[in-house]
Amino acid sequence: MRGLTIRRGLRGLRLPALLASLQLSGCSLASWGMDGPMSFFNPKGELAAIQLDVLMIALWVCVAIFAITGSLYFYTLFRFRSRPGDEDRVPEQLHGNTALEIGLIGVFVVLLAIITVPNVRALFVMEDIPSREDADLTVEVWGYQWWWGFEYPGHEVRTANEMHIPVGKKIRVELYSDNVIHSFWVPKIAGKLDVIPNQVNVMWIQADEAGEYWGQCAELCGASHANMRFKLIAHEPDDFKAWVEANRGPARPVTTEANAEAVARGEQAFLQSACIGCHRVSGTHSVGLSGPDLSHFGSRTLLGSGMLENNHENLVDWIMRPQEIKPGNIMPPVVADRDTAEAIASYLLSLK
Ligand code: CUA
Repeated sequence: MRGLTIRRGLRGLRLPALLASLQLSGCSLASWGMDGPMSFFNPKGELAAIQLDVLMIALWVCVAIFAITGSLYFYTLFRFRSRPGDEDRVPEQLHGNTALEIGLIGVFVVLLAIITVPNVRALFVMEDIPSREDADLTVEVWGYQWWWGFEYPGHEVRTANEMHIPVGKKIRVELYSDNVIHSFWVPKIAGKLDVIPNQVNVMWIQADEAGEYWGQCAELCGASHANMRFKLIAHEPDDFKAWVEANRGPARPVTTEANAEAVARGEQAFLQSACIGCHRVSGTHSVGLSGPDLSHFGSRTLLGSGMLENNHENLVDWIMRPQEIKPGNIMPPVVADRDTAEAIASYLLSLK
């Protein structure tokens, strides 16, 4: 019974940081359940890699201190324990041993230096943020309740919940909030930074490999804080250019013979609905800015800030009961009729 409890306790601990270092010795992170989509133990960006190094150095120093002091403690405990017959014996007292004290101070100065030097080095790298002029690309990141807006100054592109960048380039990221404090975090790419009202925090990121990386708001910001996810999508530079071209300016519905009628009906219904007060569809009179920009909505893979896959069925569901899916968000259920919701979904998904 007791053994069982202890084993359960150990499994609960999982020893994540310790085990991470095993990747150096060839053990795979995946086999330890530590290569999830938001695991920072498998960095794919320069900043995340540097920050992981800093963490691991501090961790190993602490492990060494723990092992040495722990061993000395147990050695002392057994070596100098009270034995029958010498209960009155007082072991030799070391208080006031100057050489020992200075030696210990020296040891800790060295240990702190081992931690401090890479930390300071990492700080300089983190703070080497390119200006708008020098950066390969600047992205304005806006934290809303509860979703992410991304704007590309100079490119006439606005998107939501999916941030696109070219791979291997140093990206300047400016963080804005007009509501509460959020925190921008893509664990595999870089450590988190707060998104604060009335203050622009700036950082840089760089992705080493093309791919999709999950991000998450990392600061409690209200009821749906945990539903404030996003995807960082890193493209090869040519693919990124193509993405910018496809996403700038007005979006025209792309229809097939099968859905042309529904799309036309949906467009009309959407443009006459309350939706246009909060959402923008470039090239139409739908110019609201308090909700996600829907200009090229059909090209997105996610819905509701990463909560759902972006497909027809989920979108109809989202339009009809947004409050049940994401509690507390500011989108009211303005479309009650399923037929209309289906048509609007067809229209929005046709906006490529
Ligand atoms: Cu935004 Cu938590």
